[in-house]
Amino acid sequence: MFKESDIVLSAKHIVKQFPASHGRTLTACNDINLNVYKGKTLGIVGESGCGKSTFVRMVISLDKPTSGEILYHGKNLADLSKKETWLNRQNMQMVFQDPLASFDPKMKIVDILTEPLINFGKLKKSEKENKARELLEMVELPGDFVDRYPHNMSGGQRISIARALSLEPEILVCDEATSALDVSVQESVIELLVRLQKEKNISMLFICHDLALIRSFAHQIAVMYLGNIVEVIPGEDVTEYAVHPYTQALLGAQFSIHMDPSQKIQSIESEAPSPLDVPKGCPFQNRCENCTDRCKAEMPKLKEIAPGHAVACFYVEEQKI
Ligand SMILES: Nc1ncnc2c1ncn2[C@@H]1O[C@H](COP(=O)(O)OP(=O)(O)O)[C@@H](O)[C@H]1O
Ligand SMILES: [Mg+2]
Repeated sequence: MFKESDIVLSAKHIVKQFPASHGRTLTACNDINLNVYKGKTLGIVGESGCGKSTFVRMVISLDKPTSGEILYHGKNLADLSKKETWLNRQNMQMVFQDPLASFDPKMKIVDILTEPLINFGKLKKSEKENKARELLEMVELPGDFVDRYPHNMSGGQRISIARALSLEPEILVCDEATSALDVSVQESVIELLVRLQKEKNISMLFICHDLALIRSFAHQIAVMYLGNIVEVIPGEDVTEYAVHPYTQALLGAQFSIHMDPSQKIQSIESEAPSPLDVPKGCPFQNRCENCTDRCKAEMPKLKEIAPGHAVACFYVEEQKI
């Protein structure tokens, strides 16, 4: 299902560190290796603070990795000139969590929707209204919304999706894009995204703290913990075949679509350590029932255990689960 020739974007050994107080270093992303495939969704899931947004900021060139490479069709994003980086924005567009905060409240919907096309010189002013109506129709909103202001309408997330897709990007990045929505609205926005993905063969990078939601539509799921990817698994296999103790905890009944991001995962007793104080060895050791001396001394690496399924866990390795 995942062919090398279908790779659109590839993260290779991505490390991102931030300077912290008292001369310390915070490692937000630690050796991330992931592939985004043509027309498929890669879901990245993990608790708040595990490094998801830091990773996507590098993917969309808002930040540079400390080390490692992000290759877009084989080309390292860090090697692009400023102009090339700007041009490349057309290929990778982002939907934010809070559309109202990201739109200028003084702009009408017609201008919000067509601004990216105007900026890239792809639309004449006289064509704005027709294009905006077409984009509204694409996201199943009434064409008359063109004259409204963002605070005077519902469906802000759909506007954000329409604006992001106006440039016909190859990759759509959604960072907690549906997390603030009611469950029923969330489901309808996901349905819309899945339909548009199929129609336009878009690759999606969908960042979310909710595994129950992400497994319903992601083709590939990467589970992130304290800056590390601990399991990568085809979305359709996650419920039955996920083996990392952290993924299993995320699958626990208490961690569901209804959970508020600030809540703790109730199926895990202790808390995640501070990212400034990551233990030597496996990052999950203090919360894991299967932790051994080896887990405290050595860091497990991701190893493939089935096609498209890799896990970083000595317990799994030794038990040959
Ligand atoms: N610009 C920054 N400077 C310092 N620390 C940062 C910065 N951005 C993120 N971090 C830290 O990196 C870690 C990962 O953050 P983030 O990527 O936002 O996590 P997530 O999106 O998974 O909630 C957190 O500990 C956060 O405090
Ligand atoms: Mg985030």
